[in-house]
Amino acid sequence: MTVTLITNIGELTTNVARDGDPCGTLRDAAVLIEGGRIAWVGRAADAPGVSSGIARSTTDGPPVAERGSEATQTKRETVDAHGRAVIPGFVDSHTHLVFGGDRVDEFEARMAGTPYAAGGIRRTVAATRVASDDELRRRLGGFVAELLDQGTTTFEVKTGYGLTVADEARLARLAAEVTPEVTFLGAHVIPAEYADRRDDYIELVCGEMLEACSAQSRWIDVFCERGAFTADESRRILAAGIARGLLARVHGNQLGPGEGVRVAVALGAASVDHCTYLDDADIAALAGSDTVATLLPGVEFSTRQPYPDARRLIDAGVTVALASDCNPGSSFTSSMPLMIALAVREMGMTPAEAVWAATAGGAKALRRDDVGVVAPGRRADLVLLHAPSRAHLAYRPGVPLVSTVWKDGVAA
Ligand code: NIG
Ligand code: FE
Repeated sequence: MTVTLITNIGELTTNVARDGDPCGTLRDAAVLIEGGRIAWVGRAADAPGVSSGIARSTTDGPPVAERGSEATQTKRETVDAHGRAVIPGFVDSHTHLVFGGDRVDEFEARMAGTPYAAGGIRRTVAATRVASDDELRRRLGGFVAELLDQGTTTFEVKTGYGLTVADEARLARLAAEVTPEVTFLGAHVIPAEYADRRDDYIELVCGEMLEACSAQSRWIDVFCERGAFTADESRRILAAGIARGLLARVHGNQLGPGEGVRVAVALGAASVDHCTYLDDADIAALAGSDTVATLLPGVEFSTRQPYPDARRLIDAGVTVALASDCNPGSSFTSSMPLMIALAVREMGMTPAEAVWAATAGGAKALRRDDVGVVAPGRRADLVLLHAPSRAHLAYRPGVPLVSTVWKDGVAA
């Protein structure tokens, strides 16, 4: 077991709300990590002493279950943060990281004036189907390393670029190798071979495909949008997933106004993602629900669309999360610091709100209470910044401010 004391933290974001501060900010703080979990949080001056070195666990009083094991040792270390800021690891609740190929040509055409359309998904479907498991696994591993380097310690991964029973099942299997937060997105678009047989495809998604993916998946998602699935189709697909024990999340109101938000709220979805085009009724529905509005500003940045109005949502009392939506079409970035900078600069969020949304907000969108918060018993997923405060994530856009990342108490 490793025991790590991170001390001399100038600004610690705990996300344990106190004195009207949702970020639960502590100054001159310390965090004690024991065996992958947070053991203690408080003022550095009150921190328990931890001398450095390695000691036999039997003399250190380890948990009883560990006693008697010759190999079990306790490694003790102290990390001096030198007055810099520590935040919870980012929780990226929305990614599409298992796919073949890329669509840089589409991006270039878009930057020359061609608008984004949902149909581009089918090109990635074609490239994914011909990619081997090993190739997809290798690329996925690369993205996971990229996420961790940038401070993301929990992330969701969707299927949705297979769209056959066998391909969706293998994407779910590959995603489950890297995260427990796997989302079945057979309802991403109607694949080309079903263009004239929509109902047959929806039946396949709700039947055989769902059956093949549900063991590996925690979530079911639908792209409820013009060019993808209608509200009625979305309700049918989500209900089938819920009946099989999956939890619902929805892509909605991305490319224009629509019923995505209302479908999500009515079904008790954990999150409705995008929320770029909302009317007053959508906002009222979200405010009166447990459904998180997950905003994905990488999409608006990469598609030159107007940004969602986060200020309006927050002022109405809606819980907001930020996520990357990392995918080859609409947002090929995995950078949560970039999402924070965009949310602050373009969407009316304060730096504190944006950091909360990228950590605790993401955890709520995934219905997780073990991450996104720095408190005793929670996972020791932490990020030490090369900066004295979290606001620098928005103040210094594009600068790599992530210094050390701990995932389950282990420095990456
Ligand atoms: O979240 N909206 C649907 N899916 C993705 C886009 C995927 C793609 O263009 O390949 C999204 O933006
Ligand atoms: Fe998405």
